[in-house]
Amino acid sequence: MTSANEQGDRGGRGQRERRERQEQRERSRQAGSFGAAAGAYERGRPPYPPAASAWLVPDAARTVVDLGAGTGKLTRALRAPGRELVAVEPSDGMRAEFARVLPGIRALAGTAEAIPLPDASADAVVCAQAWHWVDPARAVPEAARVLRPGGRLALVWNSRDESVPWVAELGRLLREYAAAPTEDRQTDRVGAPFGPVERRDFRWRHPMSVPEIVDMVASRSYVITLDPAVRAGLLDRVRALLAAERPGEMPYVTECHRAER
Ligand SMILES: C[S@@+](CC[C@H](N)C(=O)[O-])C[C@H]1O[C@@H](n2cnc3c(N)ncnc32)[C@H](O)[C@@H]1O
Repeated sequence: MTSANEQGDRGGRGQRERRERQEQRERSRQAGSFGAAAGAYERGRPPYPPAASAWLVPDAARTVVDLGAGTGKLTRALRAPGRELVAVEPSDGMRAEFARVLPGIRALAGTAEAIPLPDASADAVVCAQAWHWVDPARAVPEAARVLRPGGRLALVWNSRDESVPWVAELGRLLREYAAAPTEDRQTDRVGAPFGPVERRDFRWRHPMSVPEIVDMVASRSYVITLDPAVRAGLLDRVRALLAAERPGEMPYVTECHRAER
């Protein structure tokens, strides 16, 4: 016979599992949403500052793999004489935009969990603004597999610098509509065979017009997937805030993490 407590435990576990499955479905829906907005993404998202890309990838790295490369925002910052860059990107729409803006660089269909490259074939594996989407239990061994011993895993995010008041106000507005999924960076789940994860932040300002800032908001995964009327309402409020502030640049913090295999 099953006790009321056991039934309660099972009911609680069932509810938790259903909630986790629902959260996983929502993450997959958002992770897969980028292709539809690849053009806005390319126009609206910031580059990575040279000081950050130099800290992330050693000069000597000859073969560099960019996981979740999107439209190649980080890839283009890593170009160097004699270096081969390979992009890995699951979204067809993002790869099409990548091929348009960076036609000379190989872009392969694949994911961080299944990288379509041979063992020990890369000196650095980078992942920009995408490690929060991956399953680290599969992506960490996969990155380790394609890296040569001594190779570098580099993870990076550009965040708006909310120490600036109007940027904080924009952040509050966005959080009213949806929680950004980048909050759990999962950098604490890197582990063996990688050594300790080092962290450094770079503060900088990116010149941006008001329409470019609106594109940047419109290309966030959690904005793309909003109900169309709700999305239009949010974008109107963003335009109103920007009309009052008339900013000509966006302050950013680039959060960098690196670990050696
Ligand atoms: C926010 S975009 C970042 C694009 C680019 N790295 C950049 O910095 O602009 C996130 C990218 O991760 C990709 N992505 C989602 N899930 C992924 C996975 N499991 N493995 C690799 N890439 C993934 C998406 O298709 C999207 O292009």
